[in-house]
Amino acid sequence: MARDHFATRLGFVLAAAGSAVGLGNIWKFPFMAGQNGGGAFLVLYLGFVLTIGLSVMLAEFTVGRAAQRNPVGAFRQLGGGVWPVAGFMGVAAGFVILSFYSVVGGWTIAYAIKALTGGLSASDPQVLGAAFGAFISEPVGVIGFHALFMVLTVWIVLGGIQGGIERAARVLMPLLAILVVILAVRAVTLPGADKGLQFFLAPDWSKVTWDTVNAALGQAFFSLSLGMGAMLTYASYLQRSADLPKTAVQVTLMDTGFAVIAGLMVLPAVFAFGFDAGAGPGLTFITLPAVFAQMPAGTVFAFLFFALLAIAALTSAVSILEPVVAYLIDERGIGRRTATLGMGAVIWLLGLPSALSLGPWKDVTIAKVLSLGPDWAEVNLVHKDILGAMDYLASNIMLPAGGVIIALFVGWAVSERAVREASAEGGGAFPLAGLWIFICRFVAPAAVLWVLINGL
Ligand code: PFF
Repeated sequence: MARDHFATRLGFVLAAAGSAVGLGNIWKFPFMAGQNGGGAFLVLYLGFVLTIGLSVMLAEFTVGRAAQRNPVGAFRQLGGGVWPVAGFMGVAAGFVILSFYSVVGGWTIAYAIKALTGGLSASDPQVLGAAFGAFISEPVGVIGFHALFMVLTVWIVLGGIQGGIERAARVLMPLLAILVVILAVRAVTLPGADKGLQFFLAPDWSKVTWDTVNAALGQAFFSLSLGMGAMLTYASYLQRSADLPKTAVQVTLMDTGFAVIAGLMVLPAVFAFGFDAGAGPGLTFITLPAVFAQMPAGTVFAFLFFALLAIAALTSAVSILEPVVAYLIDERGIGRRTATLGMGAVIWLLGLPSALSLGPWKDVTIAKVLSLGPDWAEVNLVHKDILGAMDYLASNIMLPAGGVIIALFVGWAVSERAVREASAEGGGAFPLAGLWIFICRFVAPAAVLWVLINGL
């Protein structure tokens, strides 16, 4: 059967941007910045995005388009040997990420519905903040919305590339961008917002630890959808004529823009209303309803915001499921339908512990379940709640490790082919090819390994 392809370069850019822009920007980035000291986190994050992130993205694009295959197949075809292990790791990371991503995606759908039905209409910020706690500790609703989010993801992936993915990203992303800017303007003009601006934009280096650096690195990979083969898989549906370096720059800038504006939307409001910047995964859900309460037609804004965020989350979720499905289709000869439905169900089950983890299971950690002793005191992973542990495992360990392998692969194993691919028909010469290969060979592997070793 002929392989499905994106119809246009614009379709590919939108799909890649749709993958990158999602909960990582609007839900995760503000609370990570809040937990990790604000400005210093922002600077580290931007540094990682513009060097390693951009280079790894281009590496995934070139490998995907050159191979026209899923992550496992791509490494097998272009490299052989042990390289396909990287593809398997990517598929595994997809499982882990989508399991908790779908839980949070479910929260956004629930909040869109709450906005419509008047559930967010209190005006006291403290009451609105407490509402999140009440919502999250009610497992039936949380699990139900997790199911709904997964069903929608599966439904889009079933439509295949042109039918589902390309169309879903087209109109709604620009709309979300406009809305986020409006909300950021409202947030930074709240009385008392200046303390939040200061926190977010003025780095306080005294607070930086290896945990901060590792968190910023992980956030760069997660937000740009790198290290598990999502961008690689999308590029495999690309015809020969797109300018890959230009596309990588566009997608990276768009994604980073969304994250920074989301920070401006959440953190000033956190300080204006006297919330705790270190509150963790509930931060966006606690803070924004209080912002909406300060706006004319606040419930309309609230509904639009959470609905568009749910859609942005779906276009990302699709890109997490697609590599898993593409692997089963290309390498195992399973039909798209069976592969998608089966994997959707398995990943939904895997997400159940995360769905319970901020509510009934909020005290469950690996350390407690396995009664780990004081030897484990320094190991972050085992002391987090389940959702936090899944996220940490994927973002701070699996994605950076996967990113190193793809950088090494492009830098050492297939560099000539990759440079040719990066400067292929559509783009002409790629003047920064030397720098790019240098980063892939030395800078990215050394920096990531250094951070991983010190961070763990
Ligand atoms: N980049 C997405 C976000 O920021 O929400 C999440 C994501 C998508 C991570 C695809 C990894 C991935 F492969």
